Amino acid sequence: MKYDFDKIIDRKINNSEQWGFLTEYFGSEKVLPFWVADMDFEVAKPIKDILVKRAKNGVFGYGRRSDCFFESIVNWMRKRHNWNILREWIVGTNGIVPSLNFIIQSLTEIGDSILIQPPVYHPFSNSIKLNNRNILYNDLLFDGQKYSIDFEDLELQFSQGVKMMFLCNPHNPTGSVWSRQDLETIGKLCCKYDVLIISDEIHQDIVYLGHNHIPIASISEEIRRRTITCCAPSKTFNIAGLVTSYLIIPDDILRETIQNHLKQLGFSTWNIFGNFALPVAYNQGAEWLEQLLQYLEENIEFINNFLREKIPEIKLVKPQGTYIGWLDCRNLKMTDSELEKFFTEYAKVGLLTGRKFGINGSGFMRIVFACPKSKIEEGLTRILNSYDKFNKSKL
Ligand SMILES: Cc1ncc(COP(=O)(O)O)c(C=O)c1O
Repeated sequence: MKYDFDKIIDRKINNSEQWGFLTEYFGSEKVLPFWVADMDFEVAKPIKDILVKRAKNGVFGYGRRSDCFFESIVNWMRKRHNWNILREWIVGTNGIVPSLNFIIQSLTEIGDSILIQPPVYHPFSNSIKLNNRNILYNDLLFDGQKYSIDFEDLELQFSQGVKMMFLCNPHNPTGSVWSRQDLETIGKLCCKYDVLIISDEIHQDIVYLGHNHIPIASISEEIRRRTITCCAPSKTFNIAGLVTSYLIIPDDILRETIQNHLKQLGFSTWNIFGNFALPVAYNQGAEWLEQLLQYLEENIEFINNFLREKIPEIKLVKPQGTYIGWLDCRNLKMTDSELEKFFTEYAKVGLLTGRKFGINGSGFMRIVFACPKSKIEEGLTRILNSYDKFNKSKL
């Protein structure tokens, strides 16, 4: 079956976070939004079919996650990521962000240090601050084209006493897909300094040609024992609204600690639609995913070429994975608030300021490109047309 990713679907009518609250977020309904990491595409047919069938049943009482739910995860990890996991390692959760919060509460004490690698998905730092833990920053290095990890600094930070690190792989917002060598080095240092690894791999399936996602826990048994891998079909299959995720926790003690904490919090029910959508996505969604990846690669090329030819002052940091574009706008010579004003008020496109992802996100903007090409073309044209106007007015 050939899927149509060019199709425009009205998302304003369904209270979507991305499209439904533009005045609240950007001050105008005229803004074209590219700020939430979800897709404007319809889901794969088998997913839509099962959800429609389930809805037609008309009864929406409590549900449980079936054997098929867990088996589909085991199979997906084996086939897609070459990682053999056991069914009992899987702990079902309702979203990755809540998971990060209760992992912190379960496995660290107030005042413990947790390390992140900015620029990085902003709920990482929020969850650490909200739980009164101490944040340590291992800033990523940028050579003008791609990001890398500063291992010397990482070791220095670890040597000061770090309980846990939040790894983001593939990385939001830089689009980096960490190599085996990167992961081995991180893992070795975590073993040496007794650091727990919380690896957010929610973007694991969105990886482009020439790159390969490797779950850090699959590298060695020693690393596996100290790792909790956070996954979901949310990004891959555009079902984030079903709030259905899972943790992979091979170590018995870590797993029991997390499970006990979940009990204390009273988390025992699951989204009944998610219970059906996840196994169908993993068992029948691969064909759709292949076509999606091809479409997304074309979008990357489109953005890259457009900017290079028409607005060379803005450069796309070419993503190795994720459908998140990280725009290097430093040559525009604007402050972060001028950048925001330029994109939102002049160009009328809704992007996220890079500053949200850390101090070293300054001068960058984040654009989500999982949408029909016509929307991207419209957004980039708005930026182009406003650029001259903005330069003349000089704010
Ligand atoms: C790295 C990362 N983790 C987690 C999430 C959100 O996960 P959830 O919706 O399951 O809380 C996102 C969403 O953008 C993300 O990019």
